[in-house]
Amino acid sequence: MASLSRLSIDSENLLDKSIGEGGISQSELEALSPQLQKLVEQAQNWLKDKQPRFLNLPLTTDLDAIKHRGQIIAQSFRNTIIFGIGGSSLGGEMLVEILGDEQPINNVKFYDNVDPSTLIELEYVDWSVTQLIIISKSGNTAETLSQFLTVLPTMEHQLGAEHAAQHCLIITENKDGALYELAQKLGIEVIEHPPIGGRFSVLSVVGLLPAYVAGVDIDGVMEGARAMAERCVEADILQNPAFYNGAAQYLHAQRNRTISVVMPYADNLRFVVNWFRQLWAESLGKIDAQGVNRGLTPTEAHGVTDQHSQLQLLLEGPDDKLVTFLSNPGFRFMGRRIPMRFQDIPAIKPLAGHTIGELFVAELKATRTTLSRRGRPNRTLALLDRDAYALGELIILLEMETVVVAELLGIDPFDQPAVEESKILTREYLAEISSAMNLI
Ligand code: PA5
Repeated sequence: MASLSRLSIDSENLLDKSIGEGGISQSELEALSPQLQKLVEQAQNWLKDKQPRFLNLPLTTDLDAIKHRGQIIAQSFRNTIIFGIGGSSLGGEMLVEILGDEQPINNVKFYDNVDPSTLIELEYVDWSVTQLIIISKSGNTAETLSQFLTVLPTMEHQLGAEHAAQHCLIITENKDGALYELAQKLGIEVIEHPPIGGRFSVLSVVGLLPAYVAGVDIDGVMEGARAMAERCVEADILQNPAFYNGAAQYLHAQRNRTISVVMPYADNLRFVVNWFRQLWAESLGKIDAQGVNRGLTPTEAHGVTDQHSQLQLLLEGPDDKLVTFLSNPGFRFMGRRIPMRFQDIPAIKPLAGHTIGELFVAELKATRTTLSRRGRPNRTLALLDRDAYALGELIILLEMETVVVAELLGIDPFDQPAVEESKILTREYLAEISSAMNLI
């Protein structure tokens, strides 16, 4: 029996019947079905596969092992620090920030940058009560290696070399990578990173271990993810949420709406945007077989704050955007009530007696209607606050949509060939700095 979805997906405002000429038609969507059947079959196979694939992670990930490890960490340490970048941190951070305990037994903090003024904080960490998890699929990522190598002397100074190693855990895949070699040299335990690209790995140990330590209901996340994965292999693309929404976004992109604005009306859902931006940009920004530069640009706007900033552009600027609202319908019942006290003042009268949450929800509705009236495509993905199941559904939906759009654009969503050049240049420029300073 199909489980009930807790993620509400309202895509009506992508269609012509709802927003007029700016919308796409049902028949255009249906026409893409033959082109997508191969991917439907592939997705069905991914789900059945014994090998880990992003779509079957809810079925193949060993949750007991993650919980066992997480319990040891939570019992032994007060803080957990994560080093990792891109797919090695954004998914875990999203889970922790949205679903983590408000008063966690173990504080989980992510460092994904090499800004020296931020990393200075690490000088003040009490390593005797802190677990360090270093995550890198390749094990060769300059930023993650540098974070670890610069913090190691302080850890060793505080704890002694042997104990420092016991406070570290490495998640990596590549046995030829530097991180694996460091683990061997220093005696650090290694957990295997699944053979899945970072930005699709949130539902593996990569995202789930930090999440579990932070008190996230990872069973709930995985149940929701599993239910959505099952819906995402439905052969009728009009009934398949990811294929339907992916195809609709592709059709809008064909009409020059290549900018994907994600606009959460909930402060903590901003972490979904951080994760999604990487997923969408790194998966879709590619050169296709004909040599054409492809891609859809993810950008972010915050409800309601950006109603006083970007909304004017969304409404009357170039018609090159599709807006995805993320909302929490539960806000309607939340927040303090605005007192009736000053209701004789005209600007206060319409507010008086309403909760802050009602104002939030009304503003979202107003923004959505204004966009729709101007024929600007938009959709709304709604989930309740701290609903692990719904967030699991959302993760798989957005991942599968990305793969659908990639298929229609004729590109491979799982690689990132162009970023290599910048990594090589970074090493060259570091060498230049060294020779200029006569260090080598
Ligand atoms: O999604 C990806 O594959 C990338 O964004 C990686 O996650 C990122 O480059 C970090 O790589 P690694 O996990 O090898 O350190």
